[in-house]
Formats: sequence, structure tokens, C-alpha cells
Amino acid sequence: MICVRAEHLAKSYRIYPKPSARLQELLTFNRISRHHDFWALDDVSFEAEEGQTVGIIGVNGSGKSTLLQLIAGILQPSRGSVTARGRISALLELGSGFNLEFTGRENVFINGALLGLRPGEIEARMSAIEQFAEIGEFFDQAVKTYSSGMFVRLAFAVAINVDPDILIVDEALAVGDAIFQHRCMRKILELRKNGKTIFLVSHDNSAVKKLCDEVLLLDAGKLLGKGNADSMVQKYLELTYAREKRYSNGGSSETAASGPERRNFFDSSQEHLIMGIPNVDHRFGDGRAEVLGIEVFGEEGIPKRSFAPQERIRVKISTRFRESLVQPIVGFILRDRLGIDLMATNTEYEEAPLGSVETGEIRTVEFSLQLPFLRQGNYSLCPAVADGTASHHVMCDWIDNAVVFSVESGELIHGLMRLKIETRVF
Ligand SMILES: Nc1ncnc2c1ncn2[C@@H]1O[C@H](COP(=O)(O)OP(=O)(O)O)[C@@H](O)[C@H]1O
Ligand SMILES: [Mg+2]
Repeated sequence: MICVRAEHLAKSYRIYPKPSARLQELLTFNRISRHHDFWALDDVSFEAEEGQTVGIIGVNGSGKSTLLQLIAGILQPSRGSVTARGRISALLELGSGFNLEFTGRENVFINGALLGLRPGEIEARMSAIEQFAEIGEFFDQAVKTYSSGMFVRLAFAVAINVDPDILIVDEALAVGDAIFQHRCMRKILELRKNGKTIFLVSHDNSAVKKLCDEVLLLDAGKLLGKGNADSMVQKYLELTYAREKRYSNGGSSETAASGPERRNFFDSSQEHLIMGIPNVDHRFGDGRAEVLGIEVFGEEGIPKRSFAPQERIRVKISTRFRESLVQPIVGFILRDRLGIDLMATNTEYEEAPLGSVETGEIRTVEFSLQLPFLRQGNYSLCPAVADGTASHHVMCDWIDNAVVFSVESGELIHGLMRLKIETRVF
């Protein structure tokens, strides 16, 4: 059943060149127009099924919060429409919806009433909310004395304990300490399991991939795409990489990654050279360097695609540079079958710099590692070559799920992996 439907949804704000311009419009009863309309959201259409968790991603200012506020009914659309069925509980900007002069407890009453709960129902939930927020005696003090962390705790406690049909969360998880984040995540997972519809804005791509059934990608107020979390996060990363590149080039146009040239580079002195990429799900980068091949080997150096837990593996990646680069980095990400990034490393992390490279040069890197005690299943490797540092680089070539291997084990493992643990009972 469709739970939320947006049709050609759009929101504009009036932008005035200076504060006095607004007054000028007022004084002339709008005969003189001094503003222009800024479309924070433009022509966005989508449907969300009941029970779906929908992620909304995009760079800052792309319209994510505006969209959430429209769904929550806090903003009115300038054009188009959005309809939602059921009780909506929204966790928007810090403390929105709280009255600063009232205590936490009083605010819970006010918020509950606004959400359509009867006093008895609010009373019944009060202790759960108080426990979840865990702000001690501040619960009975005026909200204006709260730190921003306490605000979020209270807001979250209210939002998820009022039995919403639709929960809307705007990046709130990023605030608050780690324990509270885990508590929130558990609660979100629980609501999700109970078939509630959730809208989530987050910059945490792993959380988006883990939680969301569908993701909307916004850019400059437009819906750039909608689809599964993997592909949308990928598209988003591409977008940000493209921006970074434009930025680092001082605005010059991009060179799209052209198809790999498969000639003239084979050199018999390249005894370590790996040629061939078993699988290319998706590939992007500016093409100044390319991954020529990736392969997984066992400890003995024989190519292998099936491993026991904790076995040592070697990952070899060959790259070719189409241009000279000062600071190339080669690395990979290990993913599980759900697309969750388990670990990543590169030549910079491992303190094995390639040094600068010349045009046409081919370099092969071998990473040797012991697998953790992973649960049985398939895992994939995504190799990449970039230019810069781990924190600030331009992607030259990135390949998703280039090679897949399996971990075979008869042992039942709960969660992602098993850790070596010493247990004592007293
Ligand atoms: N009240 C407002 N008046 C004018 N512009 C606004 C207002 N609220 C948001 N905007 C603008 O709308 C755009 C989208 O904002 P927002 O929805 O908050 O983006 P996001 O949450 O993706 O960062 C931004 O450029 C922002 O500056
Ligand atoms: Mg926002």
C-alpha cells in the first residue's frame, strides 16, 4: 500500500537582495517586486510503500531537509503535492517542536498531544521516554537549559516512543554519543521490523546501505535518481568525486574515463602483472590511471576464490598510469554480500607509497592479509586507484565488485564475524 506520495512537489523561498527590500515590497503592497524565487525543491515525484525505509541523500543544500519538512507537513508546497497516511513523527532540526520555557516532561505532553495522543496514552509512555532519553534530572528542567546533546536525546525519545506510522529522521543520528547512536539505531531497526515507514536523511553511507530499501538522490533541489541504496550511494559518490575534480581543476571540464586501451602496455619485465578484471559492475574515475587487473591468491601464491575463515590471502592489483601522477594511491574495499563495507586499505594507510609515476608506467601492489573469522558467504573486492591523499584525492579509476570470493565454514556465526574472545566466569 502506498503510504507517502509526492507529485511534482516543489518549494520555493523568496530571496531578497537586502533586508530593506522586503520592507519595500510590503510598503508598496507588492506592486514593486524586489525578490526572486529560489527553488529549494523542484518537481520531485515518488511513492513510498508502507513499511519501506527510504533514504534521502545529497550534498548540503540539495533540499533534503526541505523535503522532509514537506512530508511532515511542517512546510507547505509551493507547487505539487505530498500526501502521507498515518501518524507522522518527525525528528527534524535540533529541538524543533520544543518550547524552551517548559520542562522536558511538559514538552513530551505538548508534543504527544500535537501528534494526537490522549493524555492517558502519553502518561503510559512517559517512563519509556524518560528512560530512553536518559538525561536524568534535566527531564524536569526547562528545555532552554539543555545542551544540544540533551535536545537530541529528548527529541529522539519522543519521536520513536509515540508509536508513529511514519518516522522521519533528519541527520539526528550524527549527534549524540556512540551509545546513544546505537540505542537509536536499534530502535529504528525495531520500528522497521514492525513495518513502520521510515524516512532517513543521513550522510553515513554505510547506514544508508544497511537500512534503506530505497534511496532518493537529490541535487540542487532536483530528484537526480531513485533506486536501491547501493546504486544511489554510488551515484552520489560519483557526483561528489566529479565535484572535487572540477574544484581541483579550477573549473575546467572533466575528462570522462574512457575505455581501457588494451594494447602496447604489456611488458615482459612485469612479472607481477595482473591482467583482467573478473567483473565490472560499475566503474568510474577521471581515467588518468586505470586498474588493469585484480586477483586473489592463497598464501602460496596460487589464484583462489574460496577460503576458510582466518586464512591468509593476497590481493594483487595492477594499475597503469595514463598521465604522470605525483602521489598515486592504490587500494581496495572488502564488502559483504549486502554491500556493507567491512574494511578498506590502501598504499597510504599501509605506509607503502608508490612514489610519483610517469605516463605509461605500470605498477602492481600486493596486499597480504589474514581474513577475520568471517561468516560463510560471498565477499567482493573493489579496487581503486586515486591521486592525492587518503583524505583528499581525485578518483582515477574505481571498480565495484571486481572480484568475488567465498568464505566456507560450517560454523554458525551470528553477525558479520567472530572475534577471538577470552571468557571467564566468576
Ligand atoms: N527558509 C529558507 N529561506 C531561504 N532559503 C532556504 C530556506 N530554507 C532552506 N533554504 C535553502 O534551500 C536549499 C535547500 O536547503 P535544505 O533543504 O536545508 O538542504 P539540505 O537539507 O539538503 O542541506 C538551500 O540552498 C538552503 O539555503
Ligand atoms: Mg538538512
